Amino acid sequence: MGQDQTAKLEWKESGVPVATRFDDPYFSLENGLDETRHVFLAGNDLPARFRPGFHVAELGFGTGLNMLATLMAWQAAGAPEGVRFTSFEAFPMSVADVSRALEAFPEARALADPFLDAWGAGRRLFDVHGLSVEVVEGDARKELGRWTGHADAWFLDGFSPAKNPELWGEDLMTEIGHHTAPNGTFATYTAAGFVRRALDAAGFDVERSPGYGRKRHMSRGILRPREI
Ligand SMILES: C[S@@+](CC[C@H](N)C(=O)[O-])C[C@H]1O[C@@H](n2cnc3c(N)ncnc32)[C@H](O)[C@@H]1O
Repeated sequence: MGQDQTAKLEWKESGVPVATRFDDPYFSLENGLDETRHVFLAGNDLPARFRPGFHVAELGFGTGLNMLATLMAWQAAGAPEGVRFTSFEAFPMSVADVSRALEAFPEARALADPFLDAWGAGRRLFDVHGLSVEVVEGDARKELGRWTGHADAWFLDGFSPAKNPELWGEDLMTEIGHHTAPNGTFATYTAAGFVRRALDAAGFDVERSPGYGRKRHMSRGILRPREI
């Protein structure tokens, strides 16, 4: 993938990066780490569901904050073996920008050195304190169809559906369903109707639950048993 795909950013005074291409922040302006814990971890019943071989997957790697929050939750759960985190990212951030973004989260930053070293060296398959991480570079609409994995928990974390509709379309949500393990779940900060309908059509029982901060609702769901 060419250099021109690298994310271009602007920075809020608070230190939150905003993607110029999408005119949208990478995480909550209130507290990105708390938001991750509420939406993506609790929304997927984590850390309680971690077990050996558990596979988390994500649309939109961004700063890696969700990955580091997952790492912390997994460590707190006793670090069961073979847990993996796979994320899809079309516009990878430079290591300097990732590092700057993580400065706002000392707890996450304290664990980030192995990640930053690998990322800076251009590695997209690496280990962070025992958590196996893979970042699949390219447009998720193309890459997810080729992926052979099945996630136990999905973090759907594109920019807002209004600004980044590519990451919320029906075909992509269908692929999410195809790449979910039995009893697998998803969580996302959005409660947009077209996203919820697409996830329902993709095979999930979708529910609305209280959102983080000023957001009234988020969405979460569990894959319905497949008919044989
Ligand atoms: C809200 S940010 C994700 C934040 C991230 N999870 C974190 O922990 O920092 C959304 C991400 O989706 C990526 N993205 C947007 N469109 C994409 C596409 N078509 N395929 C893959 N990634 C995409 C953006 O580049 C951005 O990094």
